[in-house]
Amino acid sequence: MKITGRILVVCICLGLGGAASPLLAEEAKPAADQAEAKAAPKDMVLKGDAVCTQCHDETEVYPVLAIGKTRHGVMADKNTPTCTTCHGESKSHLNIPKGEKDRPKPERLFGMRPTIPAELQVERYFGLFGKNTSTPVAERNAPCLECHNGGERIHWVGSAHEAGDVACTSCHQIHTTHDRARDKHAQTEMCFACHKEQRAQMNRPSRHPIKEGKVACSDCHNPHGSAGPKLLVRDNVNDTCYQCHMEKRGPFVRTHEPVQEDCSICHNPHGATNPSLLKLRSPFLCQSCHEPTSHHSTVPEDGVAGGLNPSTAQAVIMARGCTNCHTQIHGSNNPTDGTGRGFRR
Ligand code: HEC
Ligand code: HEC
Ligand code: HEC
Ligand code: HEC
Ligand code: HEC
Ligand code: HEC
Ligand code: HEC
Ligand code: HEC
Ligand code: HEC
Ligand code: HEC
Repeated sequence: MKITGRILVVCICLGLGGAASPLLAEEAKPAADQAEAKAAPKDMVLKGDAVCTQCHDETEVYPVLAIGKTRHGVMADKNTPTCTTCHGESKSHLNIPKGEKDRPKPERLFGMRPTIPAELQVERYFGLFGKNTSTPVAERNAPCLECHNGGERIHWVGSAHEAGDVACTSCHQIHTTHDRARDKHAQTEMCFACHKEQRAQMNRPSRHPIKEGKVACSDCHNPHGSAGPKLLVRDNVNDTCYQCHMEKRGPFVRTHEPVQEDCSICHNPHGATNPSLLKLRSPFLCQSCHEPTSHHSTVPEDGVAGGLNPSTAQAVIMARGCTNCHTQIHGSNNPTDGTGRGFRR
């Protein structure tokens, strides 16, 4: 908090000063219009923030003014907010109504001040996901959506996160230059805070290089909602995968039905104990659809040429991974691939 001499000076000019010290009277003398110019406390970081920053400033534990260094603090952009756009006009907070002893809270609170240790006084806002505020989620989101309702957020309403009562500020941090949500490394931990199952999957031996920061949750998911299932950035699973695995799109001369249908039939995009993110190991994976006994019994041993005794064929097939022979499991471009069946080269 800071109390400026200026306010007092103004009071004196308006004749409300009471017993003014000679020094202040001296200061007030020069010109009435100068006092007028000084009347309002100056904005510090946002247009019109003086109404709040006259009390809330850099001396606070909570770094309120850091917002000035974020995109919201670009004063030249007339579309940026001021304190009251988000927190509400909060008239009673500014001027304690007659008869009230305590200062009423501002209209919108995004995260309450719990009585917790000093060393957590910043982290508390960032870690609690706003669970401790009495302001309903929809009301917390309203000012954000006022300015950010199109584009990436076109499907926000009705999305899993909106329906699940997740606030914009459950993910986004406002009073800091480092918003975890938009940092590919930090983002993952933020998502994991609510999605424990995915955290476990991401620790499996086969996984996308997410920890390394090469792939982020938001490469596949739009947390703001999407037209596709499971908040996927594209209309379906395959189109989401093709963004980076274009070679699996084809077109192929011979296509493998499940591949065209949905990559996640065989792969777990978040992680698997089997190689190549596979949900099951090769013979079992394949046999979940292909009858073990239905395999052509005269399969050549090298998978390409020669013959094999039908009685041992089945053993060979079972002993070797299906993909040893069927190497082009996602589709083949060879029209002379055996009888045309097999995804072998
Ligand atoms: C006259 C001084 C004064 C002004 C002006 C003022 N506040 Fe406050 N504000 C306080 C005090 C005192 C508290 C409670 C003590 C504390 O923890 O700092 C407080 C607390 C808050 C809190 C935390 C409330 C809670 O319980 O979690 C927020 C948020 C807040 N003010 C925002 C604003 C905003 C936004 C404005 C401008 C619209 C504003 N304040 C203007 C004095 C002021
Ligand atoms: C874009 C919206 C937005 C703007 C603009 C904004 N705030 Fe905040 N404010 C928040 C959010 C959200 C939080 C909760 C913590 C966080 O996410 O960073 C918060 C937290 C606070 C707190 C701490 C609350 C507590 O319980 O202790 C204070 C104080 C505060 N803001 C004051 C201000 C002041 C003063 C301004 C203007 C300089 C301002 N805010 C501008 C969104 C905003
Ligand atoms: C008065 C309008 C307004 C309000 C209210 C507002 N924003 Fe913004 N916000 C902007 C503008 C303007 C930008 C900069 C241009 C852009 O990225 O769209 C911006 C940028 C952002 C960015 C990107 C920052 C960057 O560095 O690129 C995020 C994230 C964001 N806002 C989240 C929020 C959230 C969450 C809220 C609600 C707590 C909110 N905004 C409230 C106008 C607003
Ligand atoms: C579940 C977490 C989550 C929630 C909830 C969330 N966001 Fe985001 N937001 C993100 C992530 C992650 C990014 C970065 C996306 C990227 O890098 O592609 C982002 C990016 C943004 C951006 C900057 C880039 C852009 O898309 O323009 C804005 C603005 C934004 N969010 C606003 C909002 C608003 C407004 C809300 C509430 C209606 C909201 N967000 C809710 C996680 C979230
Ligand atoms: C390579 C793309 C990709 C990445 C990266 C990714 N996901 Fe997914 N996620 C998917 C697909 C595809 C689905 C739907 C199919 C499925 O559940 O296997 C999905 C489903 C989900 C679901 C819903 C699960 C259910 O059972 O309904 C959650 C929650 C989820 N992902 C969270 C995350 C989080 C958190 C991250 C980051 C740590 C992440 N995802 C990273 C592709 C991805
Ligand atoms: C504050 C908690 C919270 C955070 C943080 C969060 N989520 Fe969620 N998420 C939820 C809730 C609640 C649901 C809906 C209920 C459910 O399916 O568990 C959900 C559902 C989902 C789904 C399933 C959508 C569907 O249609 O079934 C995906 C995918 C997802 N979140 C991805 C993410 C990603 C990616 C991030 C990080 C950018 C993230 N979430 C961060 C709470 C959160
Ligand atoms: C943002 C880009 C991106 C997207 C989108 C993406 N991947 Fe990947 N994928 C990668 C990268 C990077 C690797 C690691 C490549 C490497 O290590 O050589 C990888 C590796 C893989 C692997 C091999 C893993 C291993 O252990 O060898 C599989 C399988 C895979 N992705 C499947 C999928 C599926 C299924 C989808 C859609 C749900 C998908 N990917 C979406 C970038 C992506
Ligand atoms: C019928 C099951 C199945 C489906 C469906 C499937 N895959 Fe695979 N995928 C496999 C198998 C089996 C392997 C391991 C191949 C090997 O070990 O030779 C693999 C390996 C991969 C690899 C790593 C090795 C490589 O070939 O680059 C990527 C990437 C991959 N798949 C992406 C995809 C994508 C993208 C889709 C959806 C378009 C998809 N897969 C659909 C079975 C499948
Ligand atoms: C989700 C079910 C499913 C899984 C899992 C699956 N397939 Fe298939 N596969 C099919 C379907 C459906 C066809 C096309 C139907 C047909 O032509 O018999 C097919 C066709 C084939 C063909 C070509 C048959 C032909 O007539 O052209 C081969 C070879 C094949 N699969 C091998 C495999 C191998 C090897 C695996 C394991 C890596 C596997 N499949 C996993 C469903 C599956
Ligand atoms: C030793 C090499 C080899 C192994 C191992 C192998 N296959 Fe084959 N498979 C072939 C050849 C060669 C054909 C083509 C036969 C033809 O063209 O008539 C074939 C054909 C198929 C077909 C097409 C239908 C049929 O019976 O002709 C399916 C389905 C199939 N294999 C699935 C599997 C599965 C599932 C596995 C693992 C359990 C497997 N294969 C292991 C070589 C192999």
